[in-house]
Amino acid sequence: MNKEKILVTSALPYANGPIHLGHLSGAYLPADIYVRYKRLKGDDIIYVCGSDEHGVPITLSADKENVKPKDIIDRYHNINKEAFTQFGMSFDIYSRTSLPVHHETAQEFFLNYYNQGLLVEKKTKQFYDEKAKMFLPDRYVEGTCPKCGFEEARSDECENCSSYYDPSELINPKSKITGETPVLRETKHWYFPHGKFQKRLEEYIDEMNKKFGWKDNVLQQCKSWFNDGLRDRAYTRDLDWGVKVPLDEAQGKVLYVWFEAVLGYISATKELSEERNDPDLWKRYWQDPATKYVAFIGKDNIVFHTIIFPAMLMSWNDANDAKYLLPQNVPANEFLNFEGRKFSKSRSWGIDVIDFLKQFPADPLRYTLAINAPENKDTDFYWKEFQGRNNGELADILGNFVNRTFTFAHKHFDGKVPVRAELEKIDEEMIELLKEYPSKVGALLEKYKIKDAVFEMMSLARAANKYFNDSEPWITLKQDQEKCGTTINVCLQTIHTLAEIFSPVIPFASKKILEFLNSDLQGWDNCGLLNLPDGHQLNKPEILFSKIEDDIIEAQVNKLNANDEEETRTAEITFDEFTKVDLRVAKVLAAEKIKKSDKLLKLQLEIGKEKRQVVAGIAKSYEPELLIGKKVIMVFNLKPAKLFGNESQGMILAAEDDEGGLHLISVDEKVNTGTKVK
Ligand code: 2FM
Ligand code: ZN
Repeated sequence: MNKEKILVTSALPYANGPIHLGHLSGAYLPADIYVRYKRLKGDDIIYVCGSDEHGVPITLSADKENVKPKDIIDRYHNINKEAFTQFGMSFDIYSRTSLPVHHETAQEFFLNYYNQGLLVEKKTKQFYDEKAKMFLPDRYVEGTCPKCGFEEARSDECENCSSYYDPSELINPKSKITGETPVLRETKHWYFPHGKFQKRLEEYIDEMNKKFGWKDNVLQQCKSWFNDGLRDRAYTRDLDWGVKVPLDEAQGKVLYVWFEAVLGYISATKELSEERNDPDLWKRYWQDPATKYVAFIGKDNIVFHTIIFPAMLMSWNDANDAKYLLPQNVPANEFLNFEGRKFSKSRSWGIDVIDFLKQFPADPLRYTLAINAPENKDTDFYWKEFQGRNNGELADILGNFVNRTFTFAHKHFDGKVPVRAELEKIDEEMIELLKEYPSKVGALLEKYKIKDAVFEMMSLARAANKYFNDSEPWITLKQDQEKCGTTINVCLQTIHTLAEIFSPVIPFASKKILEFLNSDLQGWDNCGLLNLPDGHQLNKPEILFSKIEDDIIEAQVNKLNANDEEETRTAEITFDEFTKVDLRVAKVLAAEKIKKSDKLLKLQLEIGKEKRQVVAGIAKSYEPELLIGKKVIMVFNLKPAKLFGNESQGMILAAEDDEGGLHLISVDEKVNTGTKVK
């Protein structure tokens, strides 16, 4: 097959915090496995990534710590770069969007659109903090929701009742920076008319899918964006951290972070050109139609890579002779959860890569994440599974096979590859398998089916153990030395194949095995051949994978649960304080939806002799008619409040599950309404 020229990118992670295992399994490990495989195929490939160093969250972190945004990005760029190195990521370049080359590239694109007359100028009103002398991004303003009365609503959206409104409707707005009341001030922004590109984008995705098979999860998301219709998007922001808008009339404005972040792939490749002293390198990968471009990302980035970025490249291409390539495939993964829940920094739920690698080697993590990759649905990382994959698969199957073969070769054959004499059927079958596996695994990797590919790799190691067992070299050693030698020879050849076939997934172990074999990688297409000559001198092996003991894993689980308890523990109150809350059993007599709200239900309750109306935010979890007759617990002495114009005289108790579903605290039928709960 002809050699391919390939450009691979992984989403540029924000330099605003340490990356965790979820990031690895979404956008980084699958790409690294693919790239390492392609290099062994002899393809001409570069792998580009770097830190995304602009955007509001970085300025918020800086404000919170009272440092400069530059301090934050320097810190996390270095931490993440180091974490990636320890994890074995083989980027050709890990760049950063704060570099001048990136600012120039992003400005060049913006100006190109501007000069084409493509951008739409619009004036809007936005909150301005007169004390801080700055426009406030949405996340910097808080106030009372005009729809539900929630007091921590954002400037144009309320997370309590999910409604959107005009910022001028927000009640009692406050700047999060100074606490002052901001004023609405007119501002101008430049919008990119995505709608103009919708038809061409639909055709592009359709064509790529037909030719190269895009993943369903990716196509579904694109379809839903197209169904809604693409709208204009502002590509500028009133902020001073970012890439300056290169127009005189745009003082104090920067480019929208997503607009420039995707261009970071191009600027990172330019940096690589510079590093390699090869000024045209970046053009060969970005502008040569013979190159294929694959963009690895997690599911939250899909629209930016399948719609926004391609539209940007199309419109550049419309106006320039040198044309950029659009992604040929965007094999986005779903999410990895941690022990049944979403990763959460604030709840200390999950583990950062850098911390993980202080305690465990990278290969078992790479293997566990790869075989359990969230390719088609969300999956979970469980400590117990990690232990099982390490002990039961890497150590007991692969490690054991390597170990028993080497022990045999050193003990009985002088540490040399024994002569391969006459082959029996069982040997021929094993040799045949070695030939088949590289193309079998390769075909899966070509389709980004990393999980299945890794499963197959381990199947070969399983088959190898079976071959060893069925050949019984410990018996033939005494009865037929030549036959025994042949078995060990084939086992060593198999180890050679395993070392190479596994190398994209467990590169550190693979390197060690090749050292034991006193050999080197042969290239993917040769790795299933019999690469070790008779009499070849072997080195002494070491333990490949150490077992992880139960107490180590239990300690991790306990630590996680302790963090969780810490998080859920709130300030202590006295018994007297508790008794101030009057909790009563109530029965639902009637329930109905509240117009214009998808969260709220209006309930009529019976509490002993009394009747009360309560508004409850449970509409997403309960159909009103199913509530009638149910006994629940209510806070009886809560101060009445008005929600959507409806008086609420109390509150009913419910618990939230991990998906945000609410479950009412139910009460036994025998208990009368009005009864106090103590
Ligand atoms: O989700 C993220 O972490 C973004 N920083 C990804 C950006 S990908 C590309 F645009 F650079
Ligand atoms: Zn609200």
